[in-house]
Formats: sequence, structure tokens, C-alpha cells
Amino acid sequence: MTGPVPVKRKLSRWIPIAMVLSALAIFIVDTFTPLDIAIAVLYVAVVLLAANVFERRGVLLVSGTCLFLTVASLLISHGLEPDTALLRCLVSLSAITITTFLALANQSTTMRLREQAELLDLTHDALMVRDMSGKIAYWNRGAEELYGWRESETLGRSSHDLLHTVFSGSRDAIEAQLLASGRWEGDIIHTTRDGRQVTVASRWALQRDERGQPAAVLETNTDVTERNETQEDLNQARAQLAHVTRITTLGELAASIAHEVNQPLAAIVTNGEVCLRWLDRNPPDLQETRDGVTRIIQAARRASDVIARLRALSRRGVSERSPIDVGEVVTEVVTLIEREMLVNRVSLRRDVASPLMAVGDRVQLQQVIMNLLMNGVQAMSGVNDRPRVLTVRATAHDEEVLVSVEDSGVGVAPEDEARLFQAFFTTRTEGMGMGLSISRSIIESHGGRIWVSRNNGPGATFQFTLPALEAAASA
Ligand SMILES: Nc1ncnc2c1ncn2[C@@H]1O[C@H](COP(=O)(O)OP(=O)(O)OP(=O)(O)O)[C@@H](O)[C@H]1O
Ligand SMILES: [Mg+2]
Repeated sequence: MTGPVPVKRKLSRWIPIAMVLSALAIFIVDTFTPLDIAIAVLYVAVVLLAANVFERRGVLLVSGTCLFLTVASLLISHGLEPDTALLRCLVSLSAITITTFLALANQSTTMRLREQAELLDLTHDALMVRDMSGKIAYWNRGAEELYGWRESETLGRSSHDLLHTVFSGSRDAIEAQLLASGRWEGDIIHTTRDGRQVTVASRWALQRDERGQPAAVLETNTDVTERNETQEDLNQARAQLAHVTRITTLGELAASIAHEVNQPLAAIVTNGEVCLRWLDRNPPDLQETRDGVTRIIQAARRASDVIARLRALSRRGVSERSPIDVGEVVTEVVTLIEREMLVNRVSLRRDVASPLMAVGDRVQLQQVIMNLLMNGVQAMSGVNDRPRVLTVRATAHDEEVLVSVEDSGVGVAPEDEARLFQAFFTTRTEGMGMGLSISRSIIESHGGRIWVSRNNGPGATFQFTLPALEAAASA
């Protein structure tokens, strides 16, 4: 894709030709027409054109040529007689000299500004300036490197259209904050020229004109894609670790159950067979049979003791119980999946009270909230005809803490409602169908309830309760 070539660059090719032609025309008119006006004053236009394309030396050279042509015209047409022609010539000479001086002064200021602007090219950040209609007016080298467009291709184009900016909240709210406070900062997603999505930490500063009216926005963008991904990997690794620890514990439990229960079961089978043999005797040996049945009962007791021990062990629990602020846990989890929401263009609404005290296992509750939020995001991933909104609320309700996660996704079919919380029920190809079943056992082991309800509009709402701290303490 190529953008329009800037007007200034297009013109600058024609300026030297225009200069020569104008100088020639002025010279001819000045020398060969009997007009009684200071035609040579028009040479200032040639000097001004020169200041646009040449540096100091070039401008001086053009200016010197104009002065020479002015004097030459006078000599050719009038000679050196001190009449009005000489006066007109002097006026023209001083006009050309003054213009040259001013043009050079102006040029050096422009050069200084340009040098300062070049400094901005040294930063690794992508900088751009856009006017209040969003049109790009400046685009530094960092921006060229990050996004792939050259400055000349971006000038005059709308930055948000060009970069397909995705905001985490409402764009109107962001613009309003910028106008009110003069600043805004946050993460946004841009699409580069080759179609890559990059997450940038963006800082906007509003520039106002001398009347205080908003004039332009300076936008500084730092690529944080990699940093966020690393953070995300870290979070995932942490979550997986917690998960693996549980699985390993479960695995070990299963192995020890198998081992400890297998022995008595084997004894029961053997003794059962022996008993049958004693009974088949003629006459049956009832004493031996009685001994055999006694051994069977002992073995069965051992097996049931093992099971009871294991249940006691699991009840004593891997989980830690301590007072926790549920509002804080919700906020923590939301921070963990912020990027996931940004990528999926989900906007989050939060109504979370804090502190909101309950007793529980922080990591387990994080897992529950994470499951519900992720399910909500996933349920909206195919929604394109309405806003993808996820609303999370946490409030105190009677003696309970109530957390709800509402989405505007595909919703739950009535026939699936009863099965959602069963293990291995999933409608997603990459789903395990364990999220809600684990969530339910966690919430129920905390003395709470979890359920789903259909929204009036599109989507579903998942809610759970936990006993509030005082209620839990007095129970
Ligand atoms: N917010 C929701 N909206 C609509 N359907 C949902 C929602 N949450 C869950 N479901 C349905 O319930 C099923 C089970 O969810 P669950 O979280 O237990 O498993 P999963 O998301 O499929 O996989 P995973 O074990 O990886 O979480 C989902 O496959 C989906 O069909
Ligand atoms: Mg899930």
C-alpha cells in the first residue's frame, strides 16, 4: 500500500525550474520593456523560492545572481545616468537584500527545529502527532520501524484507521479524559503494515493553541507485546503449577488407594473361594467356613478403614483457609486476564465492593473466578453483531458474599443447563469440560452455592455465594 506523496515534496522538484523561468521573465521585462515601475522587486519571489529548496550558500548565490541581473538590466536599458531608473534599481536591490536576510534567518530557525525533530528519531518509542481530527502530522523513525509505514505514507491519514486501534475501554471516555486532563495513558492494540498485532503502552498528551483550544495530540507508543506475553506465560505457568500440584497429589492418592485397597480385596476373593470349597464338602465344614467368613469381614473392614483414612486426609485438605477479601481476589484475576479481554475485544464492567470478607482458599477462589471470566470471554468470541461486554459484580448479600459474571455471549441452551457443571461436559473443541465442575466442588467445599441463569437479553450469568466472614466464623 502506498500513500499520497506529500505536496511539499512534489513541488520541490519544480521549484528550481520555476525559479529560472521567473528570473528570466523578470530580466526580460525589466530590460526590454519601457515600464516605469520597479519590476526587479519581483526577484524577491525568486529568493523566497530558493530559500525553500537550497541551503544558505545556494540562497546567497541565487540572491547574488538576482542583484547582478537587476544591475545588468539597468546598465543595458539606461546606462548609469542618475534618473528615476537608477532609483528604482536601488529600491529593488535593497528589497532583494532584505528579503535574503530574512529568508536566511527564517531558514536557520527552521533548521534548528528540524534538528530538534531529528532528535525525536533517536528514541526507540514510536512517536506521532495528530491533529484534532486524528490526521497524522508527524511520524518519527521509531514509528516507521514499529509499524512499517514511512512518514511520507502516513501524513494526512487518520491514525486510528491506519493502525486499526483497539481500545480497552470506550473511545469516547478516553477522548473525554484527554480533553479534561490533557493526558491519557493505557494499553492499546495496533495492527502493523504486515498485519501483525502489537500491544503498545500508549501515552497521549494534548497540545493547546495560544487561545487554549485543543490543537494536536502527541502520542508516544512503546511496544510491550513481548513483555505482556512473558507476563502472561508467567501467570499461566503459575496457574499450571498449582494445577499440576493438585493433579500430582490426586495421582499419588489414587496410587495409594489402589495399593492399600487391593490387598484386602485380594484377601476377600481368596477367602470367598476357600469358603465355597469348605461348603462343597460332604458334609460341609462349617467351622472352616465360619473362619473364612470372619477373615472376609476383617479384610473388608481394613478396606473400608483405608477409604475412611483417605477421605479424612482429603477433607483435612490440601486447601488453606484464611480470611480473604473476595473483592480483592476478583480484581487480581481481572488484572491477569486483561490482555485476553483486549485481544478478544471484550469490554469489562466492574462493580466490585471491597473489602468483602469471607473465609477460603485464595488460590482456589482465583481459579473459580478465572474459569467464569474465561468462559464468558469464550462464549462471546463468535459474537460480532453486538458489543462484547463482561460484567463482574461482587457484593455483600445478607450474610453472604455474592459474585456474578454476566456475559453477552451465546447463552446456555435449556437442555444443557443441568449438565454444565458435570465433569467433561464441553461444547468447545479445545475445552476439557472441567472448569465448571472443579469450580462447583471448590465453592461447595467452601459452604457456598454456584448456579447459572439465562439473561433477559443475550448471554448467561454465572453466580456463586460464599458465607461472609462473620457468618463463617460463627458457623
Ligand atoms: N458463559 C457461558 N456462556 C455459555 N456457555 C457456557 C458459559 N460457560 C460455560 N458454558 C458451557 O459450559 C461448558 C462447560 O464449561 P467448563 O468451563 O466446565 O468447560 P470448558 O470451558 O468447555 O473447558 P475447560 O475445562 O477448559 O474450562 C462449556 O463448554 C460451554 O458449553
Ligand atoms: Mg471453562
